[in-house]
Amino acid sequence: MGDALKRPSNLAWMVVLVAFIALSVANVLLLSSCSSESDEQTEQSQQSTQQQQTSEVQQTEQASEATVTQTEQDATASNGSATSNNGIDYLVLVNKTHELDPNWVNEIELVEATNQRGNTVVVESEALAAFEQMQEELASELAPLNATIDLNSCYRSREKQQEIVDTFTVDYGEDYVEQYVAQAGHSEHETGLALDVIPIVDGVELLTNDEMLAQTELWDIVHNTMPKYGFILRYLPDQEAITGYQYEPWHLRYVGTPAAQKIADSGLTLEEYLGEA
Ligand code: DAL
Ligand code: ZN
Repeated sequence: MGDALKRPSNLAWMVVLVAFIALSVANVLLLSSCSSESDEQTEQSQQSTQQQQTSEVQQTEQASEATVTQTEQDATASNGSATSNNGIDYLVLVNKTHELDPNWVNEIELVEATNQRGNTVVVESEALAAFEQMQEELASELAPLNATIDLNSCYRSREKQQEIVDTFTVDYGEDYVEQYVAQAGHSEHETGLALDVIPIVDGVELLTNDEMLAQTELWDIVHNTMPKYGFILRYLPDQEAITGYQYEPWHLRYVGTPAAQKIADSGLTLEEYLGEA
């Protein structure tokens, strides 16, 4: 009985053993095929991470564009009227020794405008409203010269300013940059309050420094008109020892009214007017 009981038991163990070996072989085969699938999955996962990083870069760019659009909508919603009581320091001094607070851009309203050549420029909202009003007066004042002025380069991010410094250093050299281009963090363009304009005379855009500097009659008209609208000429002729830059008739700086008229009447640089020369 004992044997009778033993024999079937041995047979059963052998069946179990054979089944175990068969299952183990199947498992090894299964695992090896999963392993290559897993490599593919890792690869796909890595690729997807890379795609995500790329799209994050794109999203960052889109987000910064969207911020401007949203800010524009906000500005329009808040009636877009220019006031001087919105907490912005329109007399902020930015130069070679005064760096702009990196948080500045979060405190202001930037709005987009399309210039006469169809390009989008970005400007602080009150400064843009003032410029548009000034353009109406300048349209008749500049008509005898068959000329207008057009917005060219206005708000620049710190990164954009750095790009300009790098490009101009390669194209024109360090001396030129020292005289005409601010280092990143030190440009008035990062405030949204600096507007570079170009003259358009007889339908021709004047883009080079020499072409622009030759338009003395045009600049006289523009410079005489702009204080009433809150703009000053920031880089006065022969004042580079104080301002840090050569004469730039095209660089208009919004400081608001009545400060602009006072500064223009004084004949002082912004540095001197603020006691920071
Ligand atoms: N051209 C002026 C100095 C600027 O780059 O901000
Ligand atoms: Zn400028």
